[in-house]
Amino acid sequence: MCGIVGFAGKNDGVNFLLEGLCKLEYRGYDSSGIALYCNDEIKIIKTVGRIEKLAEKCKSDKVSGNAGIGHTRWATHGKPSEENSHPHLSNNLKFAVVHNGIIENYIELRQELEQEGFVFKSETDTEVIPNLLQKYYNGDLKNAVNKTISRIKGSYALGILCKDYPDMLVAVKQFSPIIIGIADDCNIIASDVTAIAPKTQKIIYIEDGDVAYITANSVEIYSDSLMVERRISIIDWDINTAEKGGYGHFMMKEIYEQPAVLRRILKEYLKDNEICFPNINIDKELIKEIDRIVIIACGSAYHAGVAAKYLFEEITGIPTEVDLASEFRYRNPIITEKTLTIAISQSGETADTIAALTEAKRRGSKTACVVNAVGSSIAKIADNVIYTLAGPEIAVATTKGYTSQLLCLYLLAIFMAEKISLDHKAELIKELNKLPSKTEEVLSVQEKIADVAKRFTKTKSIFFIGRNMDFAAALEASLKLKEISYIHSEAFAAGELKHGTISLIEEGTHVIALCGYERLNDKLLSNIREVIARGADVLCAANNRNMASSVGADLFSIPKTHPLFTALAEVVPFQIFAYYVALYKGCDIDKPRNLAKSVTV
Ligand code: G6P
Repeated sequence: MCGIVGFAGKNDGVNFLLEGLCKLEYRGYDSSGIALYCNDEIKIIKTVGRIEKLAEKCKSDKVSGNAGIGHTRWATHGKPSEENSHPHLSNNLKFAVVHNGIIENYIELRQELEQEGFVFKSETDTEVIPNLLQKYYNGDLKNAVNKTISRIKGSYALGILCKDYPDMLVAVKQFSPIIIGIADDCNIIASDVTAIAPKTQKIIYIEDGDVAYITANSVEIYSDSLMVERRISIIDWDINTAEKGGYGHFMMKEIYEQPAVLRRILKEYLKDNEICFPNINIDKELIKEIDRIVIIACGSAYHAGVAAKYLFEEITGIPTEVDLASEFRYRNPIITEKTLTIAISQSGETADTIAALTEAKRRGSKTACVVNAVGSSIAKIADNVIYTLAGPEIAVATTKGYTSQLLCLYLLAIFMAEKISLDHKAELIKELNKLPSKTEEVLSVQEKIADVAKRFTKTKSIFFIGRNMDFAAALEASLKLKEISYIHSEAFAAGELKHGTISLIEEGTHVIALCGYERLNDKLLSNIREVIARGADVLCAANNRNMASSVGADLFSIPKTHPLFTALAEVVPFQIFAYYVALYKGCDIDKPRNLAKSVTV
């Protein structure tokens, strides 16, 4: 969702801006644009659609410049159009601004500025910012930036160019992501590491409220108008992990990375079969104080949370709830100092999850997070951090993001349970160690899964059913399919089907029953029979033929794992299934329509 890049260097920055925007494409966008200081003026180039179009326009307009900003826009205020694309200019053409986030009070500000004679060209909330900068500018850039920031409410990461400072760009961060990269011949800004990594490994993670003034040789950061020092971190991932590496799509590459990611997590957090988390401080005393666990997350991270709820309750005995962050933050959640709130997020920047975690903390909760992006907002807010070590995930539809979250949650549950009482820890650890190879098993039968997928390309609707861990896995399997293949699909707790949804089952309706959680297979079998009796075409996802044969359904093979860990390896064949259905349907697998990788508004 909206990506920002910016460049201040000694040489031309157009290519960096365009390449940077390409790296941010995965976040989701519908239009893009750049602004450069060029021939004594700020030159703006924008297009609707893909970045290739923007690159062609830049080439034909022969733009160049040593300082510039770029943006990929995911429409919120106003449709995708050139007028609404960023960068936005002030009326006097002195300021250009790119923005990620939402300005909540933009309507009042716009009215105020219009009354003063400012003219607006777009429907966006962003356009008030360059005009406020113009209003407050009297030759002192810092003063204009500070005054502008004091007027705007909401979340924003900003990149700003001012015509009077041709070598400089300004970055501002307030509840939306923006980082600074320090390179030899330039300094740069971007929404995330993927756009910066090809140029430098040196990153400054600025804080909320920070304003940075950046030139080719200098970075000055201010907080509350006082200059502050922010540490330079060295990112340690290989930039090749953000390339397709021979795979047709990032999604398939990331599916294939899963065994290695799971092994990395086990190697890092399991030492001689003891669970050691470097950044958490949850000891026996603290666990004794906890009377409830609340898990908050969005999307697939929420599905990982659903599976974790079952496990936490089963092995720690602590009542555990899982809530959608977007619901949690707008109700009156019952949170006390005895609550442990766990946020799950791949990006660490999901706006609703950030807000929910912040609210839980404000109410006195102890906090932890399971996050992939190092140094992200959620990692900074939580008292205890478990990194999922998945590396950059580029495909919008998460795969290794989800499985790595689950494995970390499994480890956390065992880590906590053993501090209360857990007699079968050794057995659980042994089973966890099998998960990477179980996942590999699935990859080795990719072609068979692709064959099954062929049958579903004309399908209009699919129902996924399961109980307990299978229900959690069904939620994720169903989401994977619908988000990239655009086939309508729903997941149901199998026992709930007859309370309404079964009315949708008719001759030929596709139902996929997840049967990995064998403890409840007898119950599930009755539900399968109920839909077959109404004409459903059922596929049984199971690790042996029994369930499928007993009801005359087809088998979809899944690996056999410990029942408590069902939701991990069981989802992998459905990731591949969704991938092939989408591939056969000709869908844009890595960048599905309307979706954003990181939902920062
Ligand atoms: C978006 C992504 C999903 C992801 C969700 C939560 O909707 O497309 O794949 O699960 O956000 O993101 P997070 O980064 O917080 O895990």
